[in-house]
Amino acid sequence: MLISYSEEEKIFHLKAADMSYIIQICDDGKIAHAYWGRTIKNINFRNKSIISTLNYDPKVTSFNMDVLPQEYPAYGTGDFRSPAYHVQLENGSTISNLVYNSYKIYGGKPKLEGLPATYVENDDEADTLEITMIDKLTGLNVVLTYTVFKNYNVITRSTKFINYGREKLKLLKVMSASVDFDSSNYDMLQLSGSWAREKSIYRHALVPGIQAVDSARGFSSAQQNPFIALLSKNTDEINGEVFGFSLVYSGNFLAEVYVDQFLKARVNIGINPFDFSWVMTPGESFRTPEVVMVYSKNGLGDMSRTYHKLYRNRLCRGLYRDKERPILINNWEATYFNFTEEKIKDIAKAGSELGIELFVLDDGWFGKRNSDNCSLGDWVEDRNKLPNGLHKLVKDVNDMGLAFGIWFEPEMVSPDSDLYRKHQDWCLHVSDRERSSGKHQRNQLVLDLSRKDVCDEIVRFMSEILKNANISYVKWDMNRPYTEIGSEKLSSEHQRETAHRYVLGLYRVMDEITSRFPNVLFESCASGGGRFDPGILYYMSQTWTSDCTDAVERLKIQYGTSVVYPNISMGAHVSACPNHQIGRITDMETRGNVAMAGNFGYELDLTKLTEEEKIIVKKQVEIYKEIRHIIQFGDFYRILSPFEGNETSWISVTEDKKEAVVSYFKVLAEPNILPIRIKLQGLDPSTMYEIIGEDMICSGDELMYIGIEVPRETKDFSSIMWRLKEV
Ligand code: DGJ
Repeated sequence: MLISYSEEEKIFHLKAADMSYIIQICDDGKIAHAYWGRTIKNINFRNKSIISTLNYDPKVTSFNMDVLPQEYPAYGTGDFRSPAYHVQLENGSTISNLVYNSYKIYGGKPKLEGLPATYVENDDEADTLEITMIDKLTGLNVVLTYTVFKNYNVITRSTKFINYGREKLKLLKVMSASVDFDSSNYDMLQLSGSWAREKSIYRHALVPGIQAVDSARGFSSAQQNPFIALLSKNTDEINGEVFGFSLVYSGNFLAEVYVDQFLKARVNIGINPFDFSWVMTPGESFRTPEVVMVYSKNGLGDMSRTYHKLYRNRLCRGLYRDKERPILINNWEATYFNFTEEKIKDIAKAGSELGIELFVLDDGWFGKRNSDNCSLGDWVEDRNKLPNGLHKLVKDVNDMGLAFGIWFEPEMVSPDSDLYRKHQDWCLHVSDRERSSGKHQRNQLVLDLSRKDVCDEIVRFMSEILKNANISYVKWDMNRPYTEIGSEKLSSEHQRETAHRYVLGLYRVMDEITSRFPNVLFESCASGGGRFDPGILYYMSQTWTSDCTDAVERLKIQYGTSVVYPNISMGAHVSACPNHQIGRITDMETRGNVAMAGNFGYELDLTKLTEEEKIIVKKQVEIYKEIRHIIQFGDFYRILSPFEGNETSWISVTEDKKEAVVSYFKVLAEPNILPIRIKLQGLDPSTMYEIIGEDMICSGDELMYIGIEVPRETKDFSSIMWRLKEV
């Protein structure tokens, strides 16, 4: 068993591969957090240092709640730090007092009703602990669920609220987890940005008070990702202690760190309490999303690899979890809305001649969609553009040897659409208020997925299209933040549930569609990486990383994304130059080398390539087919950070360490410099590696400890990719 309980000391000890997490029940029933960090074989609670850590002596009954480290702290009984939950009673009071009631330990990991979560395939992969706390006055039960994995330094947590009382309870704040640290001598790391600038890495020292990232846009957002980590001060990619918190949720979230008067830090993470409440009548329950907590004593790189492996193997599901992903050509940046059937077929044909495997028809194929002003909701092919119909186009593209993929934005409706004219109440809205759908909302409204009838209609129309043509891939887009969040179907006391009910509806729809079409590869998108989160990855195993396709900008975006998400989940395409988002001109090799670090594809008019470019593209496609098992399933190590200088480097290494792909990028050329060496990571020191195409054989230790020499380049935006193979 990975979890033990000592009745004598009232201690739960959760042990993962190289990590301990310890909980103690105090004499008065409070549940104290004792420790989270590297493995401790045995803990002795008579040991003074631990008692002072907890500031609690089991023999002394009076102690200060404001300093007790706790597993799930309450509001209103002497702890003035930010609480893990907040609940309102019918009399208006928001005080509750949870005490320990019982526990359960069992093998395996339970499913979370209606919510995405990591999973096990066999019960011996993980053990689960459930601790039940009760508030005697109200009958509120709170079950803290912890799962510890055998092969990963991971603990997942989620919390269930059950109303066993006689009155209605209103949940105002329901964090998935709360962790009290013994110090605040950490840096906080967050992934923040904007549209086309997703997931920049920010790192800053903790200071007294609250520091937080959140989203109130309705979805996880490009502005903040549902992830934070605390890093010990010396932490870099290879060294130092890291505590990661990644929320498996796609809606409004909060990740906050509260540093108290004694400079101790508390982390809370879960659904954003802003504009949230949830009414539980007697007998009802509420389950929070899961948070995946990773511990590493070997730096940020090790934390990332733990997330990568867990999310690749035990979050993503379906046929494509273990399958190499196809190289695609998408027509969006090639044509935008302006295409004909002939044009599409020409691009697909050019793609098939270059060895590309999948053609993706993006926005503009349905209704009267010649701009983003109309037709979302009218999912019938536009016969002006596709006179022979979608079915025939799919067949023609298939006959060229390519699989066919298609774009949807199923959660949206254009005010100028037949769907909206028929069902004006089907979008999120608040009675008598104007519905924001201007340019900044891309002229569209958000369908109300908190409603079952709306969800059913999405499943119906998508299924119709997917079953009537041989479609192998779906790009599931979502392009506006939610405003006027309210639902016509909910009574006033339930209005603040709308945003979370939307997410639950979305998960239901995604679950239904992906299970009805298990052979289809689904890629999610939200104006690029606006909903790149673990919740969506559970249903759709890849995500369009960013609408910015410029190779240099992509260095930062993909590097930042790799802090949590595996390369196999990142869509990365070569696009035309000058780049459409920022006008930069980079060469085809560098564009290819950047995109080959993810799920590779092209997004330009292949019919316009010069003969020279065609040769390069053909070669890139060939190379990617040879290396994709390394990129998509290997271990990823970050070597040089684009956030810290002019150069970027990374390496992917197969699990058996026999093959690797190293990439190096230099943004601006410099005059009069000596050659540099980059020290590789992740290789086997005693293995001899051939550097393919260079007529060189080097040992792993030489490549890692002395490094590999980078040839001097005399142009901006240069790059090089080496392939290493055991000899
Ligand atoms: C936003 C996506 O990120 C783009 O790739 C493209 O699909 C457009 N939407 C289409 O409207």
